[in-house]
Amino acid sequence: MARILLAGGAGYIGSHTAVELLNAGHDVIVVDNYSNSSPESLRRVEQITGKQIKQYEADIRNHEKLTAIFRENKIDAVIHFAGLKAVGESVQKPVSYYRNNIDTTLTLLEVMQECDVKKIIFSSSATVYGEENPVPYVETMKRGVCTNPYGWTKAMIEQILEDAAKANPSLSVILLRYFNPIGAHESGMIGEDPMGIPNNLMPYVTQVAVGKRECLTIFGNDYPTKDGTCLRDYIHVVDLAKGHVKAITYILDHCCNEIINLGTGTPYSVTEIVETFEAVNHIRVNHVYGERRAGDLPACYANADKAHTMLGWKTEKTLADMCRDSWNWQKNNPNGYNSKS
Ligand code: NAD
Ligand code: WQD
Repeated sequence: MARILLAGGAGYIGSHTAVELLNAGHDVIVVDNYSNSSPESLRRVEQITGKQIKQYEADIRNHEKLTAIFRENKIDAVIHFAGLKAVGESVQKPVSYYRNNIDTTLTLLEVMQECDVKKIIFSSSATVYGEENPVPYVETMKRGVCTNPYGWTKAMIEQILEDAAKANPSLSVILLRYFNPIGAHESGMIGEDPMGIPNNLMPYVTQVAVGKRECLTIFGNDYPTKDGTCLRDYIHVVDLAKGHVKAITYILDHCCNEIINLGTGTPYSVTEIVETFEAVNHIRVNHVYGERRAGDLPACYANADKAHTMLGWKTEKTLADMCRDSWNWQKNNPNGYNSKS
């Protein structure tokens, strides 16, 4: 069993990963500045698991604080979730995105080196495949041209981590490229809690269903797909979290430098998401078809073979599970972590 530091671990994916790591018997240390999360998520993780998390409120870019945290805890591996992630906002505020996402990574790498921590898993994204590569995306493809600064931060951080691993063969790096995480823990106690108007599809759907927003606009129905709406590889966040536990097991046992897709390999259209959500939850989601959204690709999905062969990981949840669990979280917590269930 190991001590795992989760940078940005109070967020959506970090909190679900904390549950699975604790359930697998690991110790979890979270460092988060709560810029896009709340300590309430960690309190609930403790409630779900009956285990404790060591928590620090700190900016990962604060070298001095981070060093003190590393010195206080004997860290075996780091999972780096910390970053800003809103695509549209990254176009408006590119400098903040580059500053936050790149600096968190550089500071983590420096402190890891000073404190002799040699294993890091990074939250990358399918967005680094860019527009040029054909679907399904395979890890051996070259990174493509990203369509927004958020995506570029992921591509740049991948390069930084690859260079760091090349220069220091005792440093192990796994770049996990997530596809579209949705869903929530089956308890309905933790889930995605976006600030303001959601950018992503599923939180928008659940907020329309709960009456917080009037109508979902489906962005474009003239794409060259089966029903004209975009195809994505939606993955249940609990499956994704379990993928991190497998990646931790692997990185603790190997000196490695790997890229691994975390997706299901099965694409669904926006219309299928809305229809499945309505059918599974017996609730209507008011929606209209509108213009295409700039930067959207018609299709984005994984070849998920490498995660299976290398990590022994496969997704287990269905689209119905994803829709049911997303709704369970939203209806129990209409105002996210600000409301008691
Ligand atoms: P999230 O915003 O819920 O979690 C990120 C966490 O990092 C938040 O708790 C935030 O407060 C924290 N954070 C940000 N900057 C920080 C800093 N400087 N110091 C300390 N903490 C900081 O996002 P998420 O959905 O859980 O995503 C986790 C990671 O996965 C991100 O890096 C994101 O870019 C990446 N990712 C997410 C998706 C997705 O669709 N959710 C897809 C691909 C990749
Ligand atoms: C999914 C589909 C939209 C909202 C983004 C990032 C990616 C990754 C995951 C994050 C698309 C459609 C959406 C709405 C809609 N990283 N949609 N109406 O764009 O595939 O990926 O999140 O950290 O880097 O780009 O996800 O959920 O925004 O959209 O019709 O109100 O839903 O057009 O086809 P996307 P999404």
